[in-house]
Parts: sequence; C-alpha cells; structure tokens
Amino acid sequence: MNKTVIFKIDGVEVRGKTGQTIMDAADEAHIYIPRLCDVEGLEPQGSCRVCIVKVNGRPAAACTQPAADGIEVENGTLEILNCRRDIIRMLFHEGNHLCPICEASGRCELQAMGYRLGILQPAKYPYLQPVRPIDASHPDILLDTNRCIRCGRCIRASKYIDGKNVFGYVGRGIHKRVGVNGKDFAHTDVHPDDKAIALETCPVGCIIRKGLGFFTPVGQREYDRAPIGSDIENPELRREK
Ligand code: FES
Repeated sequence: MNKTVIFKIDGVEVRGKTGQTIMDAADEAHIYIPRLCDVEGLEPQGSCRVCIVKVNGRPAAACTQPAADGIEVENGTLEILNCRRDIIRMLFHEGNHLCPICEASGRCELQAMGYRLGILQPAKYPYLQPVRPIDASHPDILLDTNRCIRCGRCIRASKYIDGKNVFGYVGRGIHKRVGVNGKDFAHTDVHPDDKAIALETCPVGCIIRKGLGFFTPVGQREYDRAPIGSDIENPELRREK
C-alpha cells in the first residue's frame, strides 16, 4: 500500500505517495516543474534534464527521482532557472529551430519553454546549423529531424502504446536524433492514428501531419492562450491541444 510522504519544494510542504516521483507529487500539488522529455502517459526516461532540481543540495531529475519523506527540493531558485535556461539554449543552438516558419509554432514546447524561462537572446554557444534529413516519403506524415530534441517521446509511444517499433535513435553524441526503423517512413507500419504521431506526443515540429499546416490562428494557439505549465498550476486551464 502506498504511504504518504511529506517533503518540501521551495519551502512549501508537499504531500506525495511512495512510488511517486518528485514531479508527480509536484504536479498534484499544482507546482510546475519544467519538462520536455517527460509527458503524461509515458514512462519517464530522464534524458532532457530540463526538470533539474536540487534535492538536499544535490542536482537530480525530478521526473525520475522518487519523492521521499523529509527531502528539501529546490525548484525555483535562480541557480536552477539558469541551468534550465542553458539546457534550452543548447537545444536551440544545436538544432534548426526556425520558429517563424515552423508549423508547430505556438504549440511547440521548446519555444514555449524559452518564453516561460525568459530567454530573450542567443547564448554564448555557436549555432551548429546541422544539415539533417527530412523524410517526406509517407503520404500523411513528415519527419523533419532538424527539429528533433531527442526526447524519445515518439519512440516510447510507438513501442509501449502503439505496440510498434516505428522510431529509434540513430547517430551518436551531437549527431544523435530520431530515425525510423526501416528504409524510410513510407516503409514502416506507422499510421496517422498512432499515439506516436499524436500532436501532444512530439513536443516540437519534428513530426508533422501533412495537410494540417498552421491549423490554429495566431492568438488562439496552445501557448498563445497560457504559458506552458499553466495547466498544472491551474487545472481549470487544462484543455485539449
Ligand atoms: Fe526530466 Fe526530461 S523531464 S529529464
């Protein structure tokens, strides 16, 4: 049986249950911890590190770190904020995220995170401007790996929800990105109704539905209405994407 665990996030008492992660307990307490690779319905993989917090003074990923009695979690300090800003900046710099021409603009979690964290200018890092493949072979879906942030959400959704194995990682180090298990997209068993293809699964504009471009007017898009994380801080804002 799950027992109650009581701990603090930025000095605020939070009640969770054994077996929960810090992020799960924070969500239930309406405290937002930023995240990109973690999404409701999928097992966490702890890879993006945007959810970095300090637990009793030591850095940890809130999406994988278990909630425990008596721990002191730092989530909203300037040090943590700057770590998250650096991670987001690096993602912008190592891919090709051209928001003004991206179909996902306004519902992109990377872009929304940039706004939420107050990133107003480029970082000290160079833009790598990689040239990565675009797979437009499928009649209904397009894969633009220039925008991949390697969150693995499509990989996990395909494997564990769709019961397929459409996606996988290819490359190593900074060349790592998502790819398809097959000659190209058209030669996989992907279906437009797969969870891996659902709008809420890809946090950026890497997986795009053909024929659906720019379907929401500017001003009414997901993150035009409220900043990312608002639905956790205020459940009344929970809406379909
Ligand atoms: Fe925790 Fe990505 S959300 S590591």
